[in-house]
Amino acid sequence: MSEPASRAHRRARTARPRRYLMCRPTHFEVSYSINPWMDPAKPVDAALAVAQWERLRALYGDLGHQVELIDPIPGLPDMVYAANGATVIDGKVLGARFRNAQRTAEGPAYLDWFRAAGHPTLHDPQHINEGEGDFLVTGSWILAGRGFRSAPEGHAEAQEFFGRPVIGLELTDPRYYHLDTALAVLDHDEVMYNPAAFTPGSLAVLRRLFPDAVLADPADAAVFGLNAVSDGRHVVLPEAATGLAAQLRARGFEPLGVDLSELLKGGGSVKCCTLELRAAAGPETTARP
Ligand code: ARG
Repeated sequence: MSEPASRAHRRARTARPRRYLMCRPTHFEVSYSINPWMDPAKPVDAALAVAQWERLRALYGDLGHQVELIDPIPGLPDMVYAANGATVIDGKVLGARFRNAQRTAEGPAYLDWFRAAGHPTLHDPQHINEGEGDFLVTGSWILAGRGFRSAPEGHAEAQEFFGRPVIGLELTDPRYYHLDTALAVLDHDEVMYNPAAFTPGSLAVLRRLFPDAVLADPADAAVFGLNAVSDGRHVVLPEAATGLAAQLRARGFEPLGVDLSELLKGGGSVKCCTLELRAAAGPETTARP
């Protein structure tokens, strides 16, 4: 990044308190392979997975965010990737419908949690969508990944349900099979992404919508640096993504690196473990001075 550009982007950043849903990796293992990161022959340290996840959960608490928990279900090892369980905007819950049979039961399990929590507006989807794995919410749009998991029909269903414009983005690299492995929302309409993960047409769309985006190099992308969670100021991301951390710092964000090595063996990291619960806009959600 050139000097003038970095000066132009550096500004005071404001964190907004968030509500997240997470699922402890009590039953986490890699017993099947539905993405290139998963190798059932590679051992997973289950206790370490829980310890790493607990540190992430504690960090959110330290940052002033509220973390809700859904009970993990035996036999659903990928349930720890809570981002895939639903999409929640304005208090409205769009359930997930998974592409792979190994994860099908997670859709109803997450919807049950929302029903029990008393969410009045729920939609059980007709078409495949893997929740916030493929739906990322900016101030103006819902960015929606396709090519590997979520279906274009699922994008249309989300647009109709939420009444927000959905921008479809085609993913090309099987290592970055969900949108949240290739792009992260930093603040309002500010994002970072891995240009190599998108088709030329989708890349042109990203350039048009986000001309000032932070761009990840292949090394940062390969350690899942884009699988990050931002509250508008703090950006929690895999600690190995040092190049991205430096770029974020130059823009006034506060990058916070974490180690989720065990969960990476399932093809997920920070964002995959975190589903944001966005309440309907009201006095309690407006920014404080
Ligand atoms: N093993 C899981 C799968 O392949 C990982 C999901 C990661 N989650 C995410 N939001 N990218 O479906």
